[in-house]
Amino acid sequence: MKDQYVHGSSEKEQRRLALMNKLINQACLLALDPGAEELVLDVGCGTGEFTRAIARCLPEKSKVIAVERDPAQLATAVDRALAENEAELVDFRVGEAAFLPLKRSELGSFDLAHTRFLLEHVNNPLAVVETMFEAVRKGGRIVLADDDHDTLRLWPEPPGVMDAWRAYFETYRKKGNDPFVGRRLVQLLHQVGAEPQKNTMVFYGGCSGMREFQGIVHNLYEVLGGAAEDVIQAKLMSEKNYINALYALRDFSRRPDAALWYGINWAEGMKPKFS
Ligand SMILES: C[S@@+](CC[C@H](N)C(=O)[O-])C[C@H]1O[C@@H](n2cnc3c(N)ncnc32)[C@H](O)[C@@H]1O
Repeated sequence: MKDQYVHGSSEKEQRRLALMNKLINQACLLALDPGAEELVLDVGCGTGEFTRAIARCLPEKSKVIAVERDPAQLATAVDRALAENEAELVDFRVGEAAFLPLKRSELGSFDLAHTRFLLEHVNNPLAVVETMFEAVRKGGRIVLADDDHDTLRLWPEPPGVMDAWRAYFETYRKKGNDPFVGRRLVQLLHQVGAEPQKNTMVFYGGCSGMREFQGIVHNLYEVLGGAAEDVIQAKLMSEKNYINALYALRDFSRRPDAALWYGINWAEGMKPKFS
């Protein structure tokens, strides 16, 4: 089965991605803690906001290469970098995660290979982690951040929203992807021969009264809204119930006592120094 990316690359989706980047990048940077790396690879970079955020933390002489399969995402990544006078910051390349467009001389030379929210969208995440392992030097870091869709909790629970959420992540399975890949990150690192070094979660949530809360709920609303056609076509939920769940989520965002929890699974491994 060919990898199918559920969210696509419409302008609306790219706006959602930009908002999500604004909401989570600082927390993800804290976990990643980039500093002295001279050669960094970001796989499945999307519209490139986080890649550039990483690049800004590195010494001037560093080089950052980002790989993205969808030319529309890549074009937006380049445009946004240009618009913010950061055209030189990242070398954006079109390519497949499991067949990275790297020169022979670049293989085995990266200090850090990172990917976020990609493994959930591929049929064979192990093949992607293998290419990342190949790309880093001995002693280099491999960082995987991804979703385990089971971590979502909303309270007071808006009627139908968790059913809609489950129906949404079932569409992943229909595409041959794993909506729970986040719980497998350490295992994947081990399977490719990396030494697991860190396993944590980046919190992504909040409550009414927090400035970013509306954005967090809006992101969820857009994710569910964007999956409506797939869910309904696959008969995972009726159109009426799915739309009612979206209304319930909108009402939830207006409650003064609304709370939402979500965790981005995050793991780091090291390529053995001696092998
Ligand atoms: C949810 S976005 C995440 C983008 C970025 N990593 C971030 O965290 O903002 C996932 C990206 O992976 C890309 N993608 C999906 N499958 C891919 C593959 N097999 N190879 C390379 N990129 C892929 C999609 O086109 C999309 O831009």
